Amino acid sequence: MKEKSIELLNKAVADELSAVHQYMYFHFHCDDQGFDLLANLFKRTAIEEMMHIELVSERILFLKGEVEIAASEKVKKIHQVKDMLVMAAKMETQSANDYNQWANICSQNADSVSKKLFEQLVADEERHFDQYDVEMENLKKFGDNYLALQSIERSKNLASQTTTE
Ligand SMILES: [Fe+2]
Ligand SMILES: [Fe+2]
Repeated sequence: MKEKSIELLNKAVADELSAVHQYMYFHFHCDDQGFDLLANLFKRTAIEEMMHIELVSERILFLKGEVEIAASEKVKKIHQVKDMLVMAAKMETQSANDYNQWANICSQNADSVSKKLFEQLVADEERHFDQYDVEMENLKKFGDNYLALQSIERSKNLASQTTTE
C-alpha cells in the first residue's frame, strides 16, 4: 500500500508549497509596510514549511515515488495584517487536521515511518498556529498601536544604524 502513502505525501508537498508561497507573499507585504516582527515571523514559518517539503520528499523518494512539485492553491492577495493572520491560522489548522488523518491512514497501511513523519508535522503546524494566534490576540488587545509600535521600532533601528562614508 505504499502508493497510498506516496499519494498522501505528495498532497502534503502541494499544501506545503502553497504555504511557502502564501507566507512569503505575507512576508514581503509586512516588510513593505514596516511591520518587521510579523515580516520575520512569516519568513521564518515559510522556511520551516520548506523544510517540511524536504522531509516529505525524502520519504517519497525512499518509497520509490515521484515528487510532484505543484502548489495546491493560488496565492491570495491579502494586504491587511488581520486578514493575513486569520488566513494563516486557518491554513495551520487545516494542515494539522489533514496530517492527523493521514497519519492514521498510514498507520492502517502499516507504514509507521510515514505515520511518524505526519505526526511530527502536526506538532510543527500546531506550533505555527499558536504563533499566529498570539499575534492575533496582540492585535485584538492593542489594536492599531500594535502595528504602530512595529513601525516605530523599525524607524528606531534605522536611525541607530551608523553610516560609513
Ligand atoms: Fe508545514
Ligand atoms: Fe505550518
